[in-house]
Amino acid sequence: MGLFFYMNFLQEYVQHELGWHSRDVKKAYQALQSGYRAGECVGYANIEQVQAYVFTRFPATYQVCLKLIGKYFNDLKIHSVLDWGCGIGTASLALSQHFENLEYYLVEQDKQAKTYAIEFLTHFFPNNIVHHEEISKNIDLSVFSYSLGEVQNWQKTLDSIWDKTKYLLIIEPGTTVHFKRLMIIRDYMLAKEAKLWGPCCHTKLCPLQDNDWCHFAVNVPRSKEHRMLKGGERGFEQEAYSYLLFAKEPRNIDFGRVVAAPRLHGGHIDLKICTKDGAISTPTVGRSSGNYKTLKKCVWGDSLTHELL
Ligand SMILES: C[S@@+](CC[C@H](N)C(=O)[O-])C[C@H]1O[C@@H](n2cnc3c(N)ncnc32)[C@H](O)[C@@H]1O
Repeated sequence: MGLFFYMNFLQEYVQHELGWHSRDVKKAYQALQSGYRAGECVGYANIEQVQAYVFTRFPATYQVCLKLIGKYFNDLKIHSVLDWGCGIGTASLALSQHFENLEYYLVEQDKQAKTYAIEFLTHFFPNNIVHHEEISKNIDLSVFSYSLGEVQNWQKTLDSIWDKTKYLLIIEPGTTVHFKRLMIIRDYMLAKEAKLWGPCCHTKLCPLQDNDWCHFAVNVPRSKEHRMLKGGERGFEQEAYSYLLFAKEPRNIDFGRVVAAPRLHGGHIDLKICTKDGAISTPTVGRSSGNYKTLKKCVWGDSLTHELL
């Protein structure tokens, strides 16, 4: 099954199984937007708002989750997951694409959203177990997918789960504001002796300062419903995101992280790398370099396992 199938499964379900009235969904989308603009914590008040979310935000947040899970978790054993601020279950649905027979603990203040998360998870992945009670045991992965930034007392929230979890993934929008908050969280977790797995390959001060910030991006295909709800003609949109991944055990140190889209020219590549020494390096790698062929394939967000020749 290809990525496009994965992207569309929930959209087909909420459109065909739960009824679909374009005009009502568009109104619901506008209500969500004015809530976001007013800085309100917007919920999923009715099925039209859930549908608006599934067609506009979900494709982007889901794809970001898939990307990070694919990047870090392919070789790890994950059996149990805490999806904190799960909304309609975006991160859990993405994890279910990679792992079978997962045990889920879902934390969500919005009852309606949690009900949909359980419905979607059990419908598409019936072999998973979804626990209805709060987490009571140690778990493998805790994920905050676009949720920690909404929590006032995030320190207390992290304190309550860190002792119980092996891996902690925090995803936020790729804006300067969210990046600054992530840097505060980074310091907080490092002080707890958490091992930082990404995106940084070091624990020194972040070298991206002033108007620069660490973020990555995925291209998200826009369905015709997406275009109808949000307006605009383009077939793709770019979703910027930032993240932090911590673990209890240290990870093999990578040489660096590609922190901007590499620029490919005729015979050379311009790179921007955050190195394991906590510095930004902007090398130009020519055809004569032993690394040229490998680096030609690398993309924004990749880690480099070897020093550049
Ligand atoms: C932006 S949404 C993200 C939803 C989902 N994780 C996703 O990636 O699509 C943030 C979610 O966090 C939830 N949330 C915020 N503060 C919370 C709290 N104190 N307790 C539980 N859930 C919370 C909100 O209700 C909302 O569903």
